Amino acid sequence: MNSSSSSVSPDSASLVDILPFLRAYKVRYFFGILVLILVDVLELIPPLLISITIDTLQGLPSSGVLATTLRRFSGGEIGVILWIFLGAIFLQWILRYLWRICFFFAQEYIARDIRRRYYYKLLELDTDFYTKAQTGELLSLASNDVDAVRMMMGAGFLLFVDTLCYFCFVLFLLISWNVELTFYLALTLPFLPFVVLYISRKIHFHFKKVQQQLAVISAHAQETFSGIGVIKNFLREPQEIQRFHRENQDYLRYNLDLAKYQSLFWPFMAFVVSLQSLLVLWIGGQFVQQGEMSSGELVGFIYAMWLLTWPAIALGWTMSMYQKGMASLGRLKGVLGHPSSFSLESSVSVVSLRGKIDFSGVCFTYPQSSHSALENITLRVEPGQTVALVGATGSGKSTLMRLLLRLYSVQEGEIRVDGFSVEELSLAQLRRSIGYMPQETFLFSMTVEENIAFGLEGVDFGVVERAARLACIHEEIEALPERYRTRLGEKGVNLSGGQKQRLALARTLAMSPPILVLDDCLCAVDPQTERRILANLRTLCPRPTILVSTHRLHTVQDADWIVVLEGGQILEQGTHDQLLRRGGWYAHTYRQQQLLQCIEGGPDVG
Ligand SMILES: Nc1ncnc2c1ncn2[C@@H]1O[C@H](COP(=O)(O)OP(=O)(O)OP(=O)(O)O)[C@@H](O)[C@H]1O
Ligand SMILES: [Mg+2]
Repeated sequence: MNSSSSSVSPDSASLVDILPFLRAYKVRYFFGILVLILVDVLELIPPLLISITIDTLQGLPSSGVLATTLRRFSGGEIGVILWIFLGAIFLQWILRYLWRICFFFAQEYIARDIRRRYYYKLLELDTDFYTKAQTGELLSLASNDVDAVRMMMGAGFLLFVDTLCYFCFVLFLLISWNVELTFYLALTLPFLPFVVLYISRKIHFHFKKVQQQLAVISAHAQETFSGIGVIKNFLREPQEIQRFHRENQDYLRYNLDLAKYQSLFWPFMAFVVSLQSLLVLWIGGQFVQQGEMSSGELVGFIYAMWLLTWPAIALGWTMSMYQKGMASLGRLKGVLGHPSSFSLESSVSVVSLRGKIDFSGVCFTYPQSSHSALENITLRVEPGQTVALVGATGSGKSTLMRLLLRLYSVQEGEIRVDGFSVEELSLAQLRRSIGYMPQETFLFSMTVEENIAFGLEGVDFGVVERAARLACIHEEIEALPERYRTRLGEKGVNLSGGQKQRLALARTLAMSPPILVLDDCLCAVDPQTERRILANLRTLCPRPTILVSTHRLHTVQDADWIVVLEGGQILEQGTHDQLLRRGGWYAHTYRQQQLLQCIEGGPDVG
């Protein structure tokens, strides 16, 4: 994911940000570190035993604190030395398993915690955030970035501790054998982590490009499958194949670049380690000849030196993992710390709302928009009234509804429901009281029954069926293969656009909200059925307050009040008859639509 083209602004993360994770799993980390230190101490035994064995076989004395102590402990018996060797290897095997369990479990728990917090946050964030954020990016944060933090907190953390301890212990062992030789070796060591870091960065850079290109290919393939009908109708197959070929070639190129650096890594390491061995053998050999070291010690030294290259390599990896993890944590913080302008708390406690709505002097401009979407809207809707919002496309109908639902906050003026400002009601209270049907319908891949009962606690079939009847979809559901138990969506039955809209309406009606906000949500339903549904809603007892928007004027001609919006302002308002008499936009558009229906021989438009 490229943060420069990011729609979510990243935050900066510091060590303080990882403290809560360490604290949450402190017992695991504590034991992990303890066992890790034990393993690192045990790592010293094999080189020591090798040097002691060689010296014992040659009848030479041992020097160095560790070697002499261990030799005294074994009584100089080769059999005992081998038994100690075997014991150390076994113990290491068990302890290595233990620390892996400690750290790897901790990293999985941490990843789970971050994913959970992230998902909760995404549900809490307001509509404004989603208008800017890209779905792909949000998904990538949940997978790639959480994974980078997971690696940092698990593998990265253990490598860091391991590297430090191991380095100190092995260095101590080497110094105990020969200070001068250790000094020469130490001169070559700092070089390694930087080379590792350099190569790791290159690998990471190319890996990112590979991932990005894979995303491009996947998106293209997905788009092709979704739009296969359009591609075939427009005879675009050759162009699409060519485009895919180009993308595939790029993918290959990026993979080859990555393979170059990946192939470089281990051969380079082997080369450096061999050079170090050569240096130690050359200088150490002279020390042995001069009698400053025994041959057993030199062999042990070389063995321990090989052990030392691991922490040097690991240090480079640790740095790279830390950098990636911190960058990802920063990006996640950008979302987790994103302010949610809506408080879930309410300052007033209302059991149920009756449905009186007051818009007074409402003005609103969308964030990042230069022109106002609504200007000075004042409107009162009494409980049980049906008010229709009509007007040309872009006149502000949906915006007014969104403000009532507090999907956005009003900038000037006020919206009150039953006398309470929508700002002081809790979001939960507000949205439970308002059944909102947006212009776009979304159904889940569940059964029809579960879809309708989505907002209910459990499935009450009586409520589900009543809602379906009100939305004029009951008969069609009964005709489905498994009726209300029919599965919808990807692996289930696909409904027509109008059926989907009526099913979604049934879902809203099942909640029996005192206020219904229907934003042009039945545009795919035939006008007669739309009118019948609206009539059904007015028979409900108690009658819900209905705010409905549409482009088909005759479907709302029975509404108690009709408001015509233009450019975010109220152009005219009244009952159907009043507006017709007025002879303005409404009367003109209504007659035009009526004429069109007659010409097309359409249904009776009343
Ligand atoms: N998310 C948004 N960000 C910025 N501007 C927006 C956004 N949504 C709508 N607008 C603008 O606000 C104005 C009112 O839009 P709105 O969606 O309320 O119109 P509408 O009356 O519902 O139109 P339609 O009949 O096409 O649904 C338009 O100028 C539109 O371009
Ligand atoms: Mg709209």
